[in-house]
Amino acid sequence: MTRAPIPSPAARAASVGPSPVREILALTARPEVISFAGGLPAPELFDVAGIRAAYDRVLAEVPERALQYSTTEGDGDLRREIAARLSGRGLATGPDDLVVTTGSQQALTLIASALLEPGDVVLVEDPGYLAALQCFAFAGARVVPVPTDEGGLIPEALDELVARERPKLLYLVPTFQNPTGRTLSTRRRQAVAEAAERHGFWIVEDDPYGDLRYDGEPQPWIASLPAAADRTVLLGSFSKIMAPGLRLGFLRAPRTLRRACVIVKQSADLHTSTIDQAAAARYLRDCDLDGHVELIRAAYRERRDALVDGLPAALPAGSRWNRPEGGMFVWVQLPDGLDATALLPSAVEHDVAYVPGAPFYAGEPNRATLRMSFVTHPPEEIREGLRRLAAALSVQAAVAVAG
Ligand SMILES: Cc1ncc(COP(=O)(O)O)c(C=O)c1O
Repeated sequence: MTRAPIPSPAARAASVGPSPVREILALTARPEVISFAGGLPAPELFDVAGIRAAYDRVLAEVPERALQYSTTEGDGDLRREIAARLSGRGLATGPDDLVVTTGSQQALTLIASALLEPGDVVLVEDPGYLAALQCFAFAGARVVPVPTDEGGLIPEALDELVARERPKLLYLVPTFQNPTGRTLSTRRRQAVAEAAERHGFWIVEDDPYGDLRYDGEPQPWIASLPAAADRTVLLGSFSKIMAPGLRLGFLRAPRTLRRACVIVKQSADLHTSTIDQAAAARYLRDCDLDGHVELIRAAYRERRDALVDGLPAALPAGSRWNRPEGGMFVWVQLPDGLDATALLPSAVEHDVAYVPGAPFYAGEPNRATLRMSFVTHPPEEIREGLRRLAAALSVQAAVAVAG
């Protein structure tokens, strides 16, 4: 009997391809590498004792609930805790406005499935969060870049783009953006909200980093601005303030879209892990998460300073970078003519790593850019990493200039 060939994976799986950043991270996983590449929260700052106690309590007190199937919208206690946190920060929210998601990454998939038809246009910051670009591409959307400057997305660019492209949604990370660390001013947030009001498109406001502020004053969520309150989905995450391995995030959306997301989630995973949600709710009730975030902020502030203060000696003359007021990332631009992707092998040979900026662009990439995360290593390791980077880049930059 001849064996018939089996069908190939869907074209979209082949055409989107793996994340180049994840591939780079795999290369830099050797323990001797000081990595500025991944956005990995500092593991020594996980509140292991508090999290363990929360799991112990829910297993001791409500095992029948903590280990059972549950509702797709998510654990009621956890949604009440999240709603109280959002309301306390100026965004009036009830538990029923929320869906708990398996990381905020899942919220992106739910929204893409619930909202996008193949061929629909999604506007994204350029550069922007790579895994969101992938997620929209998987949904068959056409991803169109919106220009940015040091202040983030340029709202003045929206009118013309929207008239031409008729987007269904705009995705942005307005606070301490990944990959650039940039934050949108209140004025720009208002302008984005008004553009959505004028032209009719959804805003997906992804905010996993907002709690990690080291200087300056908090900006309002776009979701809290009246112009776009009925057309903004806010995504949040416990990954950066509790632990990413919990895979806990949430979306806050107007009713119709929230209902559609719940239906998509039913088919994706029925619900997020019951025990993890119950433990997180218990943690929020019994422990002082804000006090813990204060510890993380103090440590990360020091690490940001160690990185930014060390960059002048580590990077070739003519390089530029920002000093983000929070989050995890510094965005670097090397002098014209240098290519951060081409320079990476030399850095890895010197046991130091970063992520080249090119993959983060939906439009024409600026190859001289790169992203550096400052949160994973303590200051003395950051300084050693920068010494290695200086050695790697000085050799290579000299070659590039000579060539
Ligand atoms: C902008 C942005 N959105 C979403 C995520 C996904 O986070 P989570 O762990 O909540 O899925 C990340 C993770 O790095 C991110 O940078």
